[in-house]
Amino acid sequence: MIKVDNIYKQFGVKTVLNGVSLDVRSGETLVIIGSSGVGKSILLKNIIGLVKPDSGFIEVDGVNITNCSLEELHETRKKIGYVFQESALFDSLNIFENVSFGLKNLTSLSKNEIKQRTKQCLAMVGLENVEHLNPSGLSGGMKKRVGLARAIAYQPEYILYDEPTTGLDPIMSDVINDLIINLKKYLHVTSIVVTHDMNSAYKIADRIMMLYSGNIIFNGTPDEIRNTKNKYVKQFVEGSSQGPIHTDRTFEMERKKI
Ligand SMILES: Nc1ncnc2c1ncn2[C@@H]1O[C@H](COP(=O)(O)OP(=O)(O)OP(=O)(O)O)[C@@H](O)[C@H]1O
Ligand SMILES: [Mg+2]
Repeated sequence: MIKVDNIYKQFGVKTVLNGVSLDVRSGETLVIIGSSGVGKSILLKNIIGLVKPDSGFIEVDGVNITNCSLEELHETRKKIGYVFQESALFDSLNIFENVSFGLKNLTSLSKNEIKQRTKQCLAMVGLENVEHLNPSGLSGGMKKRVGLARAIAYQPEYILYDEPTTGLDPIMSDVINDLIINLKKYLHVTSIVVTHDMNSAYKIADRIMMLYSGNIIFNGTPDEIRNTKNKYVKQFVEGSSQGPIHTDRTFEMERKKI
């Protein structure tokens, strides 16, 4: 299980995470929503140890990754698949090499097994016959799916997804939703999914949390969030420009002129 305890993260004078705590239970899919720039990606990067919190701690499978040896951090990271918001593929490697990267370096699978698993994972995200291409030959949505295939290829116990359906068409988004559900159902993967896509959140989440102004302001089931009276949460899930969450003031003024 993953435990985040009272973490703070500041960049210059800006406090992004202001005492965030959360637990992700084994086998659960936790969805985190929140406005752009609120700190969702930074929270995931703290959980995988790419960014260190200023204070507070994070435990993954009982290991305090904010205060452990590099060796322990590497061992813990092997249990976690990470789907980067910007795909983060290696431009100099082709798609086969990108997806099989972890299999080659973290497992003792044979060449043939690696080939089979890579093909299978690409098929699971709806991609075929792209193994020989370079990332530059793919659309943004295709790259996103290659990033997903790479994260699931070595069958991690935990997967952190940063905006897995952003940039995908509605049908492909639902293929990815089903993939996340099936990984949980059949492989008992524990997941945190950061998303703006409320259709996806309602479909895949056991629990939804909303991050606002450095804190978790909502923690509940999809049904609870649908019926929430919290004005901030309601504005976000209904996608309304009217409400207590400020849009940029200049933009507001320009919009009113129109
Ligand atoms: N390395 C960094 N140095 C300085 N500021 C940073 C750094 N990384 C993130 N930030 C700031 O932290 C805040 C949160 O960024 P983050 O990427 O987590 O937002 P987000 O919630 O994921 O937004 P989006 O939905 O647009 O992806 C932003 O204001 C960003 O400018
Ligand atoms: Mg982000």
